[in-house]
Amino acid sequence: MSNGSLSAKISSAPSDPIFGIVEAFRADPRPEKINLAAGVYMEEDGVTPILASVREAERRLLANSTTKLYKPIGGDPALVKLLRALIFREPGAPFGALPAIANEGRIEVLHTPGGTGAVRLAVELVKRLRPNAEIWVSDPTWPNHTQIADAVGVPHRSHPWISADARALDLDAVLQSINAAKPGDAFIFHGACHNPTGIDPTAAQWRVIAGAVAARGILPILDFAYQGLGDGLVEDAASLRAFLAAGCEILVAASASKNFALYDERVGALAIVAEDKEAAAAILTHAKVAIRAAWSNPPGHGGEIVAEILGDDALRVQWEGEVTAMRERINGNRRAFVVALASEGAGDFSHLLTGRGMFSLLGLDDAQLKRLRDEQAIYLVARGRINFAGLSAVKIPIVAKAVAALLR
Ligand SMILES: Cc1ncc(COP(=O)(O)O)c(C=O)c1O
Repeated sequence: MSNGSLSAKISSAPSDPIFGIVEAFRADPRPEKINLAAGVYMEEDGVTPILASVREAERRLLANSTTKLYKPIGGDPALVKLLRALIFREPGAPFGALPAIANEGRIEVLHTPGGTGAVRLAVELVKRLRPNAEIWVSDPTWPNHTQIADAVGVPHRSHPWISADARALDLDAVLQSINAAKPGDAFIFHGACHNPTGIDPTAAQWRVIAGAVAARGILPILDFAYQGLGDGLVEDAASLRAFLAAGCEILVAASASKNFALYDERVGALAIVAEDKEAAAAILTHAKVAIRAAWSNPPGHGGEIVAEILGDDALRVQWEGEVTAMRERINGNRRAFVVALASEGAGDFSHLLTGRGMFSLLGLDDAQLKRLRDEQAIYLVARGRINFAGLSAVKIPIVAKAVAALLR
């Protein structure tokens, strides 16, 4: 092979920290294997279902759609309007009623390929509009946050999120980091259901964080990948409302992957909350330039499904019920797992009960995770991130027993 060849002296890149484990799980021939690693919702039988509301929307689309023409760069106007209504809905307000700032024209929304596309676009905007900014992420965080910052070429730093015993939010440390950041830096916060810790600020704590962010001139990027899987679709936006009330400009990276179970359709949205209408319109132009050079136009089918569901009151209510059912199953598994750990003598895991969303950390090290994989065919992510949706009535005692055996 010549030196100029693409393949000369190339060693392999590391596998993705989460998808790498999921691939190892798939390759494992043991029938009793348990997947608590993938960040997806699963039913009792380990299957990730297509929601009934999605099936109905697809049936209608099959009957009625007439073209596969390119979508506009920022997405279908009808879809982005509906996504805006979903993200910014206020407690007690009917779907579609918007907060005042939306009516002032301060919010623009673009359809992106998944939440990943939205985070990528947010980071691209930081690079273009705040070229000296660093991006701060919580330690720990979703590994793709730093991978995306590296890919775009924005320097990143991490700040503490949880206490040393990994049981609670370390609010003082978060506030110290905000005050240590340069004005103009960006912080990526998890809007709800922090991944991987499951530890979210309360609404009151969000207000304190948002106040500090506003005072310091920090740009909050709210990664809102799990809207609806914490306390509810509207309740989970307490974080967003805190930043709005503090008067911040905000980038919100939303995703339909989890709450619509539309993982492979790649539906997400970046919402831009700007200082005023003119600024929102100007930032939108930069976002479109970035998109044109990346994916050009968003994928159509998934967005059409979401628009069909959100645009039809009956179908939307059906879907909201399905989100509630997913959330309640996850929370039921959380509670049952904590009881099972206690009855196996694994120690006090009651702090898991205050966690939100699919994940929490069991605090296991790499050697313990390897033993779980090798000896029990149980797959978790770094630090023992467990996906409660992967548990079932049958699997809960098996996993609790295996974890307790490691800790005794
Ligand atoms: C914290 C967080 N942000 C964003 C995403 C992006 O999800 P997607 O690109 O599949 O919509 C995920 C998915 O796992 C996530 O956990």
